[in-house]
Amino acid sequence: MPLDRTLKIAPSILSADFADFGREIEAIESEGCDWVHVDVMDGHFVPNLTFGPPLCKAIRKHINTVMDVHLMIAPVDPYIEAFADAGADIITAHLEAGPHTHRTLQAIRATGKKAGLALNPGTPVEAAQPLLDLCDLVCVMTVNPGFGGQKFIHGQIEQVRRLRALIGDRPIHIEIDGGVDPETAPLVVEAGADVLVAGSAVFRGGSVENAEIYGNNIGAIRRACENVTIQAA
Ligand code: DX5
Ligand code: ZN
Repeated sequence: MPLDRTLKIAPSILSADFADFGREIEAIESEGCDWVHVDVMDGHFVPNLTFGPPLCKAIRKHINTVMDVHLMIAPVDPYIEAFADAGADIITAHLEAGPHTHRTLQAIRATGKKAGLALNPGTPVEAAQPLLDLCDLVCVMTVNPGFGGQKFIHGQIEQVRRLRALIGDRPIHIEIDGGVDPETAPLVVEAGADVLVAGSAVFRGGSVENAEIYGNNIGAIRRACENVTIQAA
């Protein structure tokens, strides 16, 4: 089956109300998001702490779309099984998280889950080239990972373009994470991205009681990309 390269919006629950994940997820899904992006941070690989497998397992039952788990942890390998058991559909690990990313991607695929590879802004996308046949998704960070609400790094657009060319016709999603809003979204889509993670730009101004704001925010990102063709290889 060919890869679905249509635009997908993946709100990051890092910007949701941490005391109410279940209802927050139900709100963004009913307002039309495509995937749910779950940011796992360890206070070591990145300077912030969020949550681990038990929380992922608890929120899984509220997710009807795709559970996209972004691991900002090192080491990764000892925790892969736990995130797979927690119900992740996609497990993404960072290239910079350890010396054996090839093994990590193999281990993710061995659980039956889709394997993602995330690249920090300081990493040339060419470093992913030898690993592409093990990837279902490559996540290009457009901020330094660790926090929501940071400024988009424009220099990464050129990297997305180069990654798109490297991927060629392999069935691999290109995901963008950090500082995505209606202004930056079309720039990365034009460069070849098909999955847009957005935390603050989706949750800004809304709440579970005012979920239509989430819908407006998702709609604004979608509309901004409407006339942009996702770059082919
Ligand atoms: C950053 C996280 C992102 C973040 C995006 O470390 O991986 O997913 O929550 O948030 P915004 O869209 O606010 O930059
Ligand atoms: Zn993320």
